[in-house]
Amino acid sequence: MKTLDRSKLESLLKKEEELFRKNHPKSYKLYLRARKSLDGGVPMLWMVRWAGSFPVFVKQAKGAHFTDVDGNSYLDLCLGDTGAMTGHAPEATLKVIREQIEKGITLMLPYEDVVEVGEELQRRFGLPYWQFALTATDANRFVLRMARMITGRPKVLIFNYCYHGTVDETFITLDEEGTPGSRANNMGPQVDPIETTKVIEFNDIAALETALSARDVAAVLAEPVMTNIGIIHPDPGYHDALRELTRKYGTYLIIDETHTICTGPGGYTMAHGLKPDFLTLGKPIAGGVPAAIYGFTEEVSKAFAAKLDLDDADVGGIGGTLAGNALSIAAMKATFQHVLTEEFYKRAIALQEQFTAGVEGVIKEFDLPWIVKRLGNRSEYWFRPTPPKNGGEAAAAIDHELDRYMHLFSLNRGILMTPFHNMALISPDTTKEDVDYHTKVFREAVVSLFG
Ligand SMILES: Cc1ncc(COP(=O)(O)O)c(C=O)c1O
Repeated sequence: MKTLDRSKLESLLKKEEELFRKNHPKSYKLYLRARKSLDGGVPMLWMVRWAGSFPVFVKQAKGAHFTDVDGNSYLDLCLGDTGAMTGHAPEATLKVIREQIEKGITLMLPYEDVVEVGEELQRRFGLPYWQFALTATDANRFVLRMARMITGRPKVLIFNYCYHGTVDETFITLDEEGTPGSRANNMGPQVDPIETTKVIEFNDIAALETALSARDVAAVLAEPVMTNIGIIHPDPGYHDALRELTRKYGTYLIIDETHTICTGPGGYTMAHGLKPDFLTLGKPIAGGVPAAIYGFTEEVSKAFAAKLDLDDADVGGIGGTLAGNALSIAAMKATFQHVLTEEFYKRAIALQEQFTAGVEGVIKEFDLPWIVKRLGNRSEYWFRPTPPKNGGEAAAAIDHELDRYMHLFSLNRGILMTPFHNMALISPDTTKEDVDYHTKVFREAVVSLFG
């Protein structure tokens, strides 16, 4: 198998950085100006980590493409890391947004639409009761509170190198010896996550049983397939064991479908017949308008009601003035009805198969120690020869420099990949030609490194 020449990579990266600066003078100017009013020159500090030496400033986005302030055009395979999996500004959602903004945006009162959305969520995800939030982070925070309140147990359990948004309890990882500790750069934690959380490797049934058998875990918070440290599929039978053991030890199972909604209209849960106690989801469900949902079983609903004093519900730690606002709900209704449809998934998954086959072909042609994994409408290449079984194995294979090079090489040729890992999504507007173009650019990047 081919090995990477690190000094060649270093000099190629320098060349790509020069090309990036040359082709983005207006973005650079805006960045310099932004640094005077925005911390780091960006709306969120992590945005300085994009592959260029400053971020691309967007002019306009529509469907699968966007243009920047310098007039460069891009194929967007990042799609807001799932937030724009619907394509940018989908027409069906836009039409309803235009109508709704004339009729009121936020009231802290329900509109008729919300009932239709609740009924659609029941059909789509198989859980009877639903609530709304603005972000998947909040949806996860709220269900963790519910689970702790009902069970009276103090702890939650998560998987090593998971990501569920900025949820305090989840910022804990295992070191190389398997010892848990605060995740690197866990910023100003309220309490040490050791106090709140147990962390184990995904796909390790024995560790799961040991952790749950103490009967102090209120809930397992899990992506059904890990997606934030590459795509890590569950071993055959793992979900059965997860469900069986959580039931055995009185622990709730929360399935976070925020990324795995790439699997199909009802997420991985419906595609694989999972039976969670709670389901959370955010990002693309309102076509890019902030919105999130969390659903739960009849049993949860009754147990929660039994513990809740409704007089204090507004200041009890589960809330949000803007949650369930009329605009989010109207956008969600249209997005579910017209955009995230069976037909969309059929078409997108076929294109994603084409994407994976293209990347796989290049990996084989050059005998690279890399893999490409797919989950529904989501593909990702990873710089190791075999699929990782868990987050620890996947994290050990991260190559920041190579990652940066592959991103920047693509960006300079008009393709935006999802940052910090090499992930691609297909929107309703992505075409076969777009996918072929990615294969061509990916091959050129490989030729530059190994040719
Ligand atoms: C699985 C998962 N859950 C929740 C979130 C949080 O989403 P948001 O940042 O929109 O709150 C993310 C974000 O990437 C995620 O990947």
